Amino acid sequence: MSSEPNIKPADAPRRNFYGRRRGKALRKNQIKHLDTTLEAVSPKGVSLEENPDRNPIDLGALFGNDKPVWLEIGFGGGEHLLHMAQTYPEVNLLGVEAFLNGVAKIVPLMDEHGLDNARVHWGDARDLLEVLPDGSLDKVFLLYPDPWHKTRHHARRFVNTENLDMISRVLKPGAIFRVATDIENYVHHTLERIMPRGDFEWLADAPQDWREPWGDWTRTRYEAKAIREGRTPHYLTFRKI
Ligand SMILES: C[S@@+](CC[C@H](N)C(=O)[O-])C[C@H]1O[C@@H](n2cnc3c(N)ncnc32)[C@H](O)[C@@H]1O
Repeated sequence: MSSEPNIKPADAPRRNFYGRRRGKALRKNQIKHLDTTLEAVSPKGVSLEENPDRNPIDLGALFGNDKPVWLEIGFGGGEHLLHMAQTYPEVNLLGVEAFLNGVAKIVPLMDEHGLDNARVHWGDARDLLEVLPDGSLDKVFLLYPDPWHKTRHHARRFVNTENLDMISRVLKPGAIFRVATDIENYVHHTLERIMPRGDFEWLADAPQDWREPWGDWTRTRYEAKAIREGRTPHYLTFRKI
């Protein structure tokens, strides 16, 4: 067996991407799962080659039902995505992650747990958001987006006007957008970009609303690291108006 999976990124690199696409060598078992399972659990019509006109993709066909769909952007190792898919069998979970090693971690686990309500896209979340139908999602999770600490790198942060426009478009009115971050500056960055827009309402009355995790939360790998290193999680909840 080759030490590389046969797959290539589903999306052509159309936008600048500054994160990592691949990390250390994948294990044989991971390569096997990627080669045999990834295509079956991935949405069709995300890449420019498959969908040059950027038509909306068919989420009903992807999941085989019309249950509500929740999207997790940058799921990392997939702990939260798996937890949500197991906790909410009445919901469809769609995850997108640009880092192959994260995708390689979750695909065998989806198989092992026999999850039929989770799907994943290996690629850039912006390419996926672009082809999601208007008002098609009930929740979006952006959990510990890359912090890009330096001021000159803030333009790389996932929370920006273009991405918020896409997230706003794909959320139903009344749908929820959750953002978690351990970087205080990212809290301000997010609020400064969301609050003036007028299409999201921040659901916070008191500090515990952003200091305490959501009732159905599970700690992600990145959050565990942040806490070990002495940083404090913040949990922001927005409702699409
Ligand atoms: C700091 S990590 C957090 C991972 C995970 N959410 C957690 O809490 O453990 C940020 C993740 O977002 C992914 N990411 C960043 N930009 C992305 C993009 N445009 N599309 C898809 N994934 C992206 C990175 O590859 C990385 O895995």
